[in-house]
Amino acid sequence: MYCDGHIHILPAMDNGPVSVHDSVAMLRMLRESNVHRLVITPHYYADRESCNSFLLRRKYRYQELLRAARSASVPMLPCLLSAEVEFSRGISKEPLLEKLMVPKTRYLPMNFSLGKIDRWIVAELAYMMHKRKIYPIICNMERHMIYDHPKDYETIASFPYAVYQIGINAMKDIHISHAVFRLIRNGKTVICGSNAHDPFRRPPVTAHLQEQIIELHGYSVYKTLTLRTNAFFNEAFS
Ligand SMILES: [Fe+2]
Repeated sequence: MYCDGHIHILPAMDNGPVSVHDSVAMLRMLRESNVHRLVITPHYYADRESCNSFLLRRKYRYQELLRAARSASVPMLPCLLSAEVEFSRGISKEPLLEKLMVPKTRYLPMNFSLGKIDRWIVAELAYMMHKRKIYPIICNMERHMIYDHPKDYETIASFPYAVYQIGINAMKDIHISHAVFRLIRNGKTVICGSNAHDPFRRPPVTAHLQEQIIELHGYSVYKTLTLRTNAFFNEAFS
């Protein structure tokens, strides 16, 4: 059983599935792969759209998915509506930021640009965490492992209170998996998510991929990663 902690499945919401048929196809694939819970994380860019407009679109797109799933007789999975918030100047002052957090938690999935962690980023994070008690889930951590300068990576890997989301697909890479194990050894919370965007080019986690990870790292490692993800979101799903 696997909880997907990062997925784009709402139809025509972002750069995810272009139609509701593709969304339902993704849902079908998720059910076949034994995925049992979803944290839905459409992209949010504060410099392109008001938070209010995003929240309305998210609500309508979710309802559209529910209707289509029902008429296709594909039962919807339990899910949490959240967002993948692009980290940008001024984001810490966005008044509706709480509504983008994972429900029943104080955690907000955020995407950080690759590269140097400037002082303004630290200031925004400090405001979010200390004044508003909002803590980041750092999405797509494997990209930082691959592309960031080691010094920049070390900075992002040592953010206080941060949770790190890793693409389960990336665990096929031995260097990334070692970096993930190092994060865990350092006491960080690591959760998994597919960052799936459609049924074809960037599909959801498949049973085959899960088997590959088990073959490469052993069942206990796979189990540890999935259990940690389930445990992190458990309260939110209750
Ligand atoms: Fe994403």
